[in-house]
Amino acid sequence: MKTPIFDFLNEYKNKNSIRFHMPGHKGIGPVELSAVSKYDITEITGADFLFSTSNEGIICESEKNAEKLFDSAVTAYSTEGSTLAIKTMLFLAVKGRRRKVLAARNVHKAFINACALIDIEVDWLYPKEAISSLCSMKLSAFDLDNALASYKNEELPSAVYVTTPDYLGNMLDIKSLSEVCKRYNIPLLVDNAHGAYLNFLSENLHPLANGADMCCDSAHKTLPCLTGGAYLHISKNTRDEYKSKANVKESMQIFATTSPSYLILESLDLCNKILEDKDYSDRLNKLCKRLKKLKEEIRSIGFNVINNPYSEPLKIVILTNGLGINGKELLCSLEKMNIYCEYADISAVILMISPDNNENDFNALLSALKDIKNSAKEKISSDNAFDDGFLIHPAEQKMSIRDALFSKAEKISVDDALGRICTSPVSICPPCIPLAVSGEVFDKNTINLLKKYSIFSVNVVQ
Ligand SMILES: Cc1ncc(COP(=O)(O)O)c(C=O)c1O
Repeated sequence: MKTPIFDFLNEYKNKNSIRFHMPGHKGIGPVELSAVSKYDITEITGADFLFSTSNEGIICESEKNAEKLFDSAVTAYSTEGSTLAIKTMLFLAVKGRRRKVLAARNVHKAFINACALIDIEVDWLYPKEAISSLCSMKLSAFDLDNALASYKNEELPSAVYVTTPDYLGNMLDIKSLSEVCKRYNIPLLVDNAHGAYLNFLSENLHPLANGADMCCDSAHKTLPCLTGGAYLHISKNTRDEYKSKANVKESMQIFATTSPSYLILESLDLCNKILEDKDYSDRLNKLCKRLKKLKEEIRSIGFNVINNPYSEPLKIVILTNGLGINGKELLCSLEKMNIYCEYADISAVILMISPDNNENDFNALLSALKDIKNSAKEKISSDNAFDDGFLIHPAEQKMSIRDALFSKAEKISVDDALGRICTSPVSICPPCIPLAVSGEVFDKNTINLLKKYSIFSVNVVQ
């Protein structure tokens, strides 16, 4: 597979041209980054433009390579993460239609901000049972069908929006959810920020291969790609209006910078070559098998690791309840041994693995966990606040997300928040899943939840 963006940049670098164009570093400074700066340019002649609607150019050619890999009708690169792709897919879904979306409640805050920008009304699907983390939410085809059946025809939402895999690696059954959506002729949009690699498993678990109409993938989260690199994919089996590449590009540029990073574009371009090679899927599938065993090994040390048929293979989620050490303490202990994880809250530590990790990494992890387990025996942590799980109740939505976010705000103590309206979504980042959404009234349930997550002040409408 060719790498048209990288090849262009490499040739340009080798020409040692006089650079009378942006960026200001002229391919030289800062000295420490000079090897990288040489590849960092702007839209000079021949470099194409990310939001060009023409069917030619090096970026277009590279995106066509990605389309082949993901078997999509359109794949558009984002240098601003899935965050930009989420805004774009929502815009595409509601343009010329009712600005209403039905969404599973465990959304990333990028979704809320997009809804504020585009002025989308959201109907929420809430978890039916107690959950131990805001990140996760089960949603069956039966529940989705019931929710859609409750609408009068003329009030149906313009899209259904779900997040899978979630931050804890749980996956929804996209095949059955998409069948429901198709029956109602409503597109299924998937936040697949954590699941770009699913396309390369021996059983393809990527949302596009399983019936989603559009999805975003943060290439940078799981693939060998620089931070910020992401895709918006449009399915071959969706409405024709979404499959117009020009329409996708015109929609994306509304929300995007006019200076997309060529370094990120190059890394997306080079990533195609890696992904095309059978060696990548071989390494990936081998790693999945290895991680199954590694999870067993971690379990045998005495840690509880999430493992269910719906969990994605590349995440290790260590649950710490009942271990005498909480998630945050475990994270700190690992960091003291130079092992850095993705995230921890009180009850869990999340590790993200890729084929670029190796056996030395796994051995170091196992040895560190053994040491920590042994020293934790003497120490009993009192923090088991999440042991019983919690319920998220539907909160009263008193203002639209947009009106609330644009309102004059004041910061107050959570203790004074009862009955007040939330302005900016309240979340801890990561995982950036809002505990309270703009426009919602703070009730006792939400206030208790905020305190559980050690959030003690909030922004409310004045
Ligand atoms: C579930 C989910 N969706 C969307 C995003 C935003 O992705 P990005 O950082 O690529 O913009 C994140 C980021 O962590 C995420 O966890």
